[in-house]
Amino acid sequence: MTQDEAKRLVAKRAVEFVKDGMVVGLGTGTTATLFIRELAGRVQSGGLKIRCVASSDASHELAESLGMSVATLTELPELDVYIDGADEIARVPGLGFGLIKGGGGALLREKIVASAAKSFIVVVDSTKMVEVLGKFPLPVEGIKMALPVVQPRLAALGLNPTLRQAKSGDGPYITDEGNYILDCACGRIDDPQKTAAAIRAIVGVVEHGLFLGMATLALVAGENGVSEIRP
Ligand code: 5RP
Repeated sequence: MTQDEAKRLVAKRAVEFVKDGMVVGLGTGTTATLFIRELAGRVQSGGLKIRCVASSDASHELAESLGMSVATLTELPELDVYIDGADEIARVPGLGFGLIKGGGGALLREKIVASAAKSFIVVVDSTKMVEVLGKFPLPVEGIKMALPVVQPRLAALGLNPTLRQAKSGDGPYITDEGNYILDCACGRIDDPQKTAAAIRAIVGVVEHGLFLGMATLALVAGENGVSEIRP
């Protein structure tokens, strides 16, 4: 099974967790996009009545273009479920699941929307499941004018930050909230709580891509189908 096939499979399964009347948080990225398309199919066929809040402009626009009802947190500050992909997922002793997110640049809004939801289902292909987080560079979102302060402080923590560039080649990548992202090639993160606290303590950092103890269920697609893993 290719990674794309696994993403499609897990996106399809995730739709089964969405019930009539729910307020659903839509994630961002290729897996979340597949999920949004699947979900829209159920809505379009009249089988499902839901309202959504998206974690990025891209997902908001996609869902709306597919005829879904998408609102903001102002209108719907409490969600039943948030469904999104991840760049890495591991079990963190005492915390449940630890995730690295933000490969798609939406980590700040993703964390906010996830925090507003009663449950958070993370949908991944099995390549994302790791023993220890950190092979995937950890994204850190920071205020633009603080870059000359934040980048050296992340470097001093040994996190090897690199300013993310826009795919268009037009300079730095800018998030939906108008911030920069520093991708930290820090290697294995043995104590994610400690790393998260050290990053959070830097003035000018807005958010980091460590989602600790937030996911309530993982759907993991591999050769044997989709496994439901609880923290
Ligand atoms: C976006 C994210 C994505 O969930 C993460 O990057 C995984 O993406 P994909 O489903 O494309 O592999 O955190 O900010």
